[in-house]
Amino acid sequence: MANSTSILSAIDVEKIRQQFPVLHQQVNNRDLVYFDNAATSQKPMRVINALTDYYTGYNANIHRGIHTLAEKATKAYEQTRETIRDFVNAKSTEEIIFTRGVSESINLVASSYGRAFLNEGDEVIISGLEHHSNIVPWQLILEEKKGKLKVIPVTDEGEIDLDAYRKLLSSKTKIVAVNHASNSLGTINPIKEIISLAHEVGAVVLIDGAQAGSHLEIDIQAFDCDFYCLSSHKMYGPTGTGILYGKKELLEKMPPYQGGGEMIKDVTFEKTTYNDLPYKFEAGTPNIADVVAYRSAIEFIKELGRENIAAHEHELLVYATEKISALPSVRLVGTAKNKVGVLSFVVEGVHPFDIGQMLDARGIAVRTGHHCTQPLMARFGIEGTVRASFAVYNTKKEIDHLADGLARVISFMK
Ligand SMILES: Cc1ncc(COP(=O)(O)O)c(C=O)c1O
Repeated sequence: MANSTSILSAIDVEKIRQQFPVLHQQVNNRDLVYFDNAATSQKPMRVINALTDYYTGYNANIHRGIHTLAEKATKAYEQTRETIRDFVNAKSTEEIIFTRGVSESINLVASSYGRAFLNEGDEVIISGLEHHSNIVPWQLILEEKKGKLKVIPVTDEGEIDLDAYRKLLSSKTKIVAVNHASNSLGTINPIKEIISLAHEVGAVVLIDGAQAGSHLEIDIQAFDCDFYCLSSHKMYGPTGTGILYGKKELLEKMPPYQGGGEMIKDVTFEKTTYNDLPYKFEAGTPNIADVVAYRSAIEFIKELGRENIAAHEHELLVYATEKISALPSVRLVGTAKNKVGVLSFVVEGVHPFDIGQMLDARGIAVRTGHHCTQPLMARFGIEGTVRASFAVYNTKKEIDHLADGLARVISFMK
């Protein structure tokens, strides 16, 4: 983590906040405090402008047209692909496939790679920290293939148990799929070690980067992962798009995920041949507008610097952890050494939903419930948590509001 004094001067939060119109409103007669960033982050004006510019200036279908608008739209769409390639340090744009987001990216790999390469008795390893999006697609394909799902246990702190992971690995392991950072607890996982251990037994590795994209360094070539997934809407970009990175040699071996226009080379009723990468996996008219605007979101992150964003959020996390854990009856869930800006907690004897509603009455948006990680909640013997998750535009003053609001809710409810 970089030195916080120098970092704080690098991040001018007030200036950043001015770029986010949605933040400047009252909710229930209070200034909005938006702490639901792990669910989706807010969008800066440049992203909103990019969407408007596309629809008002050059809306057209891509790739097939030769007219000016189609060429302009195609260029903008492909520029985002190059921007992302650079952002994750992939070797080639052929390895960047646009999807609807992380859920679709994982489903693509499970369906295509899984259907082609999994056999009866094969094993897929995930961790106990996974979002349902990184559990259910594997269950679906394993049921079909008569394979087995193995789960790496989670420690009391909310970290992956690496010793247990080593013991689960075997020649039966064909795929390992884990998140880069946990949406429920914030834990940053040691993915480099997880990847290299999996490669020792010949398994391929998918990393769910949903909670990493807005603040962690992603260096695909240094990680040497086989697949990596991102969602735009968790990175200050529009909803409805994201990417799957896949190693070229694997993507080339994989059958198409969906059939339709764009993913073909030649179609006859006897036989169809498929398009080159990455188009082989992009059937139909894609989400052009949101892909185009995704580029503005990535540029926003790059200009601020991921290290600076992470340092700012870390400072907020440390501050919030101190304040919230000092409140009566509060128990933190997830105390890993390395965390992104996610603070999950329960208040003994009070349902998380009630806390969420009462905080909302004070203009504070937090998430409550199982956060699409029911098995993880079961691991901790709880139904859900209250989760405050931080972004680059959040402030310590907002955390003070949360702590004050929570103190009142607790005194009222207990
Ligand atoms: C860790 C993690 N994985 C996967 C997903 C699913 O992402 P999406 O809903 O954008 O497909 C989420 C969303 O909350 C997430 O936090």
